This record gives sequence, C-alpha cells and structure tokens, in this order.
Amino acid sequence: MSLAICAIASEVSPLAKTGGLADVASALTRELHDGGHDARLFVPLYAQIDRTGLTLHAVPNLHGFSVALGEHHYRFDAYTARLPGSRALVYLLDCPALFARDSLYTSDADEHRRFIALTRAALESCRHMNWRPDIVHCHDWHAAFAPLLIKTSYADDPALGTARSVLTIHNIGYQGVFAASAASDLGIGVPADRLEPTDFAAGQINSLKHGILYADAITTVSPTYAREILTPEFGMGLESALAARAADLTGILNGVDYSEWDPRWDRHLPIHYGPFTLPRKAALKQRFLSDNGLTTANDRTPLLGIVGRMTGQKGYDLLRGVLPELLASRNVRLAALGSGEAEYEQIFRELADAFPGRALYRHGYDEAMAHWIEAASDIFLMPSRYEPCGLNQMYSLRYGTIPIVRRTGGLADSVTHFDPLTERGDGIVFNDFDSNAIRWALDTALEWYADATLWEKIMRNAMRADFSWAGQAKHYVRLFERLAATKRA
Ligand code: ADP
Ligand code: GLC
Repeated sequence: MSLAICAIASEVSPLAKTGGLADVASALTRELHDGGHDARLFVPLYAQIDRTGLTLHAVPNLHGFSVALGEHHYRFDAYTARLPGSRALVYLLDCPALFARDSLYTSDADEHRRFIALTRAALESCRHMNWRPDIVHCHDWHAAFAPLLIKTSYADDPALGTARSVLTIHNIGYQGVFAASAASDLGIGVPADRLEPTDFAAGQINSLKHGILYADAITTVSPTYAREILTPEFGMGLESALAARAADLTGILNGVDYSEWDPRWDRHLPIHYGPFTLPRKAALKQRFLSDNGLTTANDRTPLLGIVGRMTGQKGYDLLRGVLPELLASRNVRLAALGSGEAEYEQIFRELADAFPGRALYRHGYDEAMAHWIEAASDIFLMPSRYEPCGLNQMYSLRYGTIPIVRRTGGLADSVTHFDPLTERGDGIVFNDFDSNAIRWALDTALEWYADATLWEKIMRNAMRADFSWAGQAKHYVRLFERLAATKRA
C-alpha cells in the first residue's frame, strides 16, 4: 500500500541542521520515498539555508497564501527542492517575517508562533494542493499542534479531516511552553476547552503535551527511551500525560544514513578505510593530529573524540571531573567539537589551554570536522545524562571508533558492552552517572586499547553493526499502514 505522508519538522539535513533531528527528517523522507510512498517534508525556508547549488521551484498553488494566527497575519510562499541523492521532495515554506532571524531557534517572544505558523502553513499547503495525506507526521514540539488542529480546525476539511497523526518525540527536554494569554495564536477553530486545562489554569500552554494528548500514535527514537519517558526521572513533567497514552507509544530506533557516514566513501575524508584496511585509519589519524597541532609519542597514543551540542543532556558534567586528570596522567590526546552552553564550552577551552598539543577544542558547527573526528579518533565519548537515540555513537561504530556510552536511551539500544571472554560486543557501556563510573569506563577502554589484537577485534565487531534506514523505516511504515487502515471514509 502506497501512503501519502506529510512530515513537518524544524530541521532537514543538509539544509538546516543543529542536531540529529535534521539527519532523521531527511533520511526517513528519502527512505519512505524510495519505498514507493508519497512522502513530503515541510520545513521553514530559513535565511541560513545556503541557496547556492539548490534549485528551488515555486509551487503554483502555494504562492502568497496567508496564515492567520489571531491578530497576526503571515504571507507564505512555498518552494520545492529535491533532497540530495534522492527524488524526494522537501517543501520549503518561506516567510521572512518568521524565518529570517540570526539563528534557526531563538528566544524571541514569538518563538512558539513561528512554529505554529510552520504547522499551519504545512497543513494549508496540503489543502491548497488538494493533496490528501494519509498520515501527518509531526516531529518534536515544533509540529505538535498538528494533531489538535486536524481534530478541530480541519475536522471537516476534505484534504485533512481524515488524516491520521503521528507525533515523534526526539527530545522531551524541549516542550515549547508559552503563555496561556497567547492562546489565540493557535488561530481559529480550536475551542479553548480542547487545551490542556491544568497548565492553562496555571497560565501556560505546553506544545508537546498537546501532541501527546491528540496524536493518534506517539513514537520516540529508541525503545529504551520510550520506557524511560514514562518515569519522573526522564519524563520531564510529561510522564503522566504519556502514561495515559502508553498503549499508543512505541520506540523506533533511528537509522544511519551510510551514504554520508561510512569511512569507505566518506566525502569529507582524503583517505578511506574499512574493516580490511584498518592501517589506513591509523594514517588518517596521524594526518589529523599533525594538521591540528596535536603531537604523538607513537602510533599507539589513543585519541579520544567528542562531537555534540554542548548541553547538560550530553553528560559533560562527568567529563569536567575526569578529563584534566586523564590528560595529565596518561598519554592520550583529545579532540572536541561543539558549541552550546558557556559552562560546557569552558571545560574544553580550559583543557585546550592547559594541554597544548594534547587537547584540541574546535568551537562552532563544522560538518567536515565532525566526520574527521569520527574517523580519526580511537575512542568516542558520549556519556549522556539522557539520550533519546543519539546518532554519533552509531556513526562511531561504523568508523571503528569505539564508543564509551552510558546505559541510557538509544545508547543502551545501539552499543553492546564488549566481553573479553566471548569477544562479543562493540563498545564500553557504563551505568551510573558519576565520576567513578566514567573513570572505570575510561580505564577499561585504555586497558583494552593497549592490547592491539583485542582492540582490533572490538573494532571489527563495531564496524559490522548495521543500523540502516532501510530496516528502521519499515517500523514507521507498519505503524503508518495500521493507522491509515483506521481512517474515516
Ligand atoms: P542531538 O540530536 O541530541 O544533537 P545526535 O547524536 O542525535 O544528537 O545528533 C547530532 C548530530 O549533529 C550528528 O550528526 C553530529 O555529527 C551533528 N553535530 C553536533 N554538533 C556538531 C558540530 N558542532 N559540528 C558539526 N556537526 C555537529
Ligand atoms: C534529539 C536527541 C537525539 C536523537 C535526535 C534524532 O536531538 O537528543 O538523541 O538522536 O534527536 O532523533
């Protein structure tokens, strides 16, 4: 059965990306398209999107259409572009008043309205094109009002009234909370009694919670995270709302786009390698070290890599305590890339200052550098406090860069702790969020690394792990088909 799927997201690789959501929105759309489905992804045409080399086509019925949110009126134009390496279409919704800002996300007073407008504009686009999606797939809080809108404003609409909605939670830490006094920003047709009453009485509206209440199905990006968010520790206040929908909540592990992330053909690397050409990885590492001013005593000096948004989620609090002593006492090198909260950036800035030639910190967003660090490092650090899925640890496995992860969310579902007796497993997995546990993990990794034969065994295991989208997208298709079968006639 071929499905019509309208996906709405705030990011898409490679056009507009701050994290894994962009990779997932892009790869899943391409995979669904390749599977014969009419999958179309709607994202903002941010000012940051590099238009050189991008062919945009104006969509005839989507020129200058308006979206009214209370007293606010926005004019949208829609353009289509092909996702790289695919025939799948992305619809870029242009509204400079909303999307020409200094960054993709802002702390501006109208932040919630920017994405309610995106959601409305995507649904209006379906209507104007007279395109009837079977499924509206909403990613994160940015699109989380679509299920409620479909059940209220668009309930009698011929294009949208019968659509089934799916909310995918990529990160429950971001919920899109705004003041109840801005309720009219949802636009007409949403009765006040459909808004969640407890928050509303307390003066707030929580976007993500409305997705949880009204979506026909809810997914998150790993089976373990699907269980974790039902608990107060991980649910971030939404655990009760989720518990009420537990029967409709599933975890589907993200996939990896191996056309982008595989050392055998990675376009960012000058040297390619695979499981049978491992000496080339060593050559790449030497090149990386010397290009970046890091010194080595010999070939077997381990390089530790870190790539990520520098937020509390990623477990940098643990690294703050252990990395200085590690760099001071052991012969290791460190390469870190990322930006975010000042206190976490500071950790890596101080390390680079204190250990010149041993620690490198690259601030900012740098796609090529992310690939280089994945490929050149021996060990990848991802000790997250929580991790809905995580892509970098999966990328690391394919690069034979052994991940150290905490047993949480998608990290627990994608990395298996190596067992020297059975020689099974592909990483180092620790349980507790404390400095003893991370110290143990680092010591274990360095001890195993010192045994070149053992380490090569772990690398080979890691490089065999397969998280292709071809496999993961099937779970979405099964869910979508099941929901589409329940559509009202
Ligand atoms: P999250 O979505 O929570 O940030 P993921 O591991 O799912 O974590 O995905 C992160 C993605 O963003 C990866 O593709 C990673 O390479 C990329 N990334 C994160 N920070 C940077 C950066 N500073 N420069 C380049 N790529 C980055
Ligand atoms: C979020 C999560 C990350 C996940 C990504 C894509 O940003 O933090 O764990 O991999 O979304 O689903």
